[in-house]
Amino acid sequence: MLPIESSDSDFIGVFDSGIGGLSVLQALRAEMPHERFIYWADSGYAPYGERSDAFVIERCHFITQQLLAKGTVKAIVVACNTATAVAIEELRASYPHLPFIGVEPALKPALAQTQTMRVGVMGTHGTLRSSRFEKLRQMVLTEASPKSCEFVVQACQGLALAIEQQTEKAANDTQALTALCAQYVHSMGAFGSQSKQIDTLVLGCTHYVFAQDILRQLVGPDVTIISTGEAVAKQTHRLMTEATLRHQSTPETGLVQLWTTGSLQAIQAAAKRWLDLTADHCHQVLAFNANSETRG
Ligand code: DGL
Repeated sequence: MLPIESSDSDFIGVFDSGIGGLSVLQALRAEMPHERFIYWADSGYAPYGERSDAFVIERCHFITQQLLAKGTVKAIVVACNTATAVAIEELRASYPHLPFIGVEPALKPALAQTQTMRVGVMGTHGTLRSSRFEKLRQMVLTEASPKSCEFVVQACQGLALAIEQQTEKAANDTQALTALCAQYVHSMGAFGSQSKQIDTLVLGCTHYVFAQDILRQLVGPDVTIISTGEAVAKQTHRLMTEATLRHQSTPETGLVQLWTTGSLQAIQAAAKRWLDLTADHCHQVLAFNANSETRG
């Protein structure tokens, strides 16, 4: 890709079906504190993982258009495993000059980590049934050969939505979320560092990072839990540097705007809880007319 001229008002777009991608935004801000970010939480249309591919692709196009309309976008981070699995190739084909960085379940790092050669993978139906995920699984297993590894794959229906809903509850009101996590963890089998146990758990959905404490309690201290936010942030940073798109100016903290198609209160609560951002960073897109926007 040709280097593109960058100015200080350019920004990196980040989107997810909801608040899950804030776990990636956390890592992006830590990695590139001087960049400007505009985040789109499509909470009014979540969960993507239980929708058709056509629906997710249409939303991804719409969000890309909306981000492009907000100014000069240097790159878009698709901070959603489901949207990456289903739509990233289409997006790249439709906007050949715009870099898209996706997220996918960290099977390769998990393989490098596991000793018992049993790895649990939690994700959405959309991600885990996709041909992109199957290709990734096959590729990782082929690279690992002659060693073999079993990926114990668990589609977690309702979990992303439960995490969305938990945001507006008190931080310690986690009963419903804990019950759902327990159901999925137990159906994967025994966790631990003994032979035949699952010793590594891949969080294949950006929402699940916000249930990590609960999952940790359930799988025990010996299991490695792997998410992708940091790796994606490093990859985005590398790409910005190679393409000379990095923010050039002063060491002031970059600006962050968060937009939601869902509840303004929910994004404000999530922004405060996960990113320590005040409510004035948050804005709502009116669901029935995406062009008329209300400021938070
Ligand atoms: N956070 C998303 C992911 O990483 C999507 C969850 C959903 O909307 O189903 O897959």
